Amino acid sequence: MSRKILVTSALPYANGELHIGHLLEYIQTDIWVRYQRLMGNQCQWVWADDAHGTPIMLRAQKDGITPEELIEKMKASHERDIAGFLLSPDNFHTTHSDENKEMSELIYNKLNDAGFIVKKTIKQLYDAKENMFLPDRYVKGVCPNCGTADQYGDNCESCSATYDATELKDPVSQVSGTTPELRDSEQHFFALSEFSEMLKHWTAGPAVQDEVGNKLKEWLDDGLQNWDISRNAPYFGFEIPNAPGKYFYVWLDAPIGYIASHLNLTKRTGENFEDSWKENSDVELYHFIGKDIINFHCLFWPAMLQGAGFRKPTGVFCHGFLMLDDAKMSKSRGTFVSASTWLEHLQPEYLRYYYACKLNSSVTDLNLNLDDFVARVNSDLVGKVVNIASRCAGFISKQFDGKLSSEFPAELQGDYDKLVNAKQPICELYEQREYGKAMREIMLLAEHANTYINDAEPWVKIKQDGKRDEVQAICTVGLNYFRIIMTYLSPVVPELAQKTEQFLNTELTLDSLAQPLLNHKIEKFKPLMTRVEPAQIEKLMAATAEQNKAAQADTAAGSASAANCEPIKPEIEIGDFEKIDLRIATIVDAKPVDGADKLVELTLDIGVDTRTVFAGIKAAYDPVELIGRQTVMVANLKPRKMRFGVSSGMVLAAGPGGSELFILSPDDGATAGMRAK
Ligand code: 2FM
Ligand code: ZN
Repeated sequence: MSRKILVTSALPYANGELHIGHLLEYIQTDIWVRYQRLMGNQCQWVWADDAHGTPIMLRAQKDGITPEELIEKMKASHERDIAGFLLSPDNFHTTHSDENKEMSELIYNKLNDAGFIVKKTIKQLYDAKENMFLPDRYVKGVCPNCGTADQYGDNCESCSATYDATELKDPVSQVSGTTPELRDSEQHFFALSEFSEMLKHWTAGPAVQDEVGNKLKEWLDDGLQNWDISRNAPYFGFEIPNAPGKYFYVWLDAPIGYIASHLNLTKRTGENFEDSWKENSDVELYHFIGKDIINFHCLFWPAMLQGAGFRKPTGVFCHGFLMLDDAKMSKSRGTFVSASTWLEHLQPEYLRYYYACKLNSSVTDLNLNLDDFVARVNSDLVGKVVNIASRCAGFISKQFDGKLSSEFPAELQGDYDKLVNAKQPICELYEQREYGKAMREIMLLAEHANTYINDAEPWVKIKQDGKRDEVQAICTVGLNYFRIIMTYLSPVVPELAQKTEQFLNTELTLDSLAQPLLNHKIEKFKPLMTRVEPAQIEKLMAATAEQNKAAQADTAAGSASAANCEPIKPEIEIGDFEKIDLRIATIVDAKPVDGADKLVELTLDIGVDTRTVFAGIKAAYDPVELIGRQTVMVANLKPRKMRFGVSSGMVLAAGPGGSELFILSPDDGATAGMRAK
């Protein structure tokens, strides 16, 4: 009996274009969904844009448009890329929809009725000049953990600490430039802590990968805090029922967007909606996500669902991050490849196949090595798979009027059965998301088919008398092998599969493989796929660098004007200044810090001494690029114990933060240890 399956991918934020990092997850999902459909299961992929929250509000403000205009524009852009990469969601909706408002209110009301919503008055930062509570991203100040200046109200770019905006030292409103005051504000909390026992059990079960379960266990053992699900106006989102001026936090209504997209789909198709979401539903529910959003999907979400009387996910499939040539993609280094730029230069199926080769069921990061990419696509897809067809098709169409033999050679029946029987292990690998292993199995079959054709030499036999039937049989066998291989590959390369169906004049289905195609007319062969040329990669990366530069200039202009508007701090005496010992430092080593996305560990030679300093500049610099450079550091800053070690000093940098941060460099002639005055 066929399984009923609902699948989701994480919802992309509606404030930016899709990039090839997003595509890793979407392609992973699409392959799984297409594989399920190939198996004859009823598998639906419901998906949407994540349209709410402060960053979207800020981006719209910056672009001088309304948030509604921004999210509409982004949705159209996302939909173009989704189609371009041959992704096959059954529905791509938006969280800013009637269905999501209805479902968010329903779930909130059910949680509230069950006593899981707790109102609590907390202190929040208030801009008295603008008469507004400040969202976390509207306030900056000194990190309470490491003392780095100019940090946002939610987390520190330098030491990765997360904190409440009220904990920032010297906070400054980014709206008016004034110092905000603390005011009481009533917020709505979800009583997450009441679900601890359920979550301990659920996260230790089959729904969660072991490595994810181990991470979650650490958090669960530390104890769960109740979760603030409300935000004060101004906020782009849904107002909370009976709470004027309070909005659902974006992470409350984002996963509900999965349900809402399904509701929207069933309204169109007339299918049953409720059955999928009720407790003990017989529909399987799987979420594909990245490892950065585990807590939302494996703690908050199942607790919310259970609290509101809904079913919990059957599985959360978590993957690692994408690396490009062993480094994180970076706008400042010009290596941030957008989905649309890829499509301008390269076919989507090249990337789909390469990702498939590299994907497995673990959360380890995946490296897109561009040289390996070219080699792999050319050698496997073009050299092994498509080659089978191109070597056999010409003979069949030119010599045999497009007709395959009427019998399969008896001595090869066992061989044919082996290819058909490979279905079971290959399908099992798809099911387990072990696509890399599945690709290896399929390529072994393709190698086998090529060896057969090589040894059979139809191009020699066609010139020999009395061998016509044999040539037709060889090519019939080759094309039947091709048909089997392309059926197995069809979840990964759907366009190639479709062209194969047209060429072989048959539908590629698993069930039909047991019987070879015989006495069957095929169409004239047209080239199915071309090789990737290294020049295409060069063009892709050149276009990416150009685009990143333009985007950087744009943000720099925006943020520089914002940064340059920062109010000047209160005056100090010359004596205060003289307390600061600024030294020229040579960066003798720079390396990433395990477990800290934003930090670089610097070893600094300051003549008299060598220092270790943790600097929050990873988004702006590749550590290796820094080695050998000179900079300026505060040498007498009290050493600070951080999670990763002791930081003895601070390097000076300017800029709004993130990838827009520039370390200060002295002019030629300055040497390590000189005092800056
Ligand atoms: O991290 C993100 O990009 C979020 N927009 C993912 C949301 S997934 C779901 F919960 F909606
Ligand atoms: Zn910090």
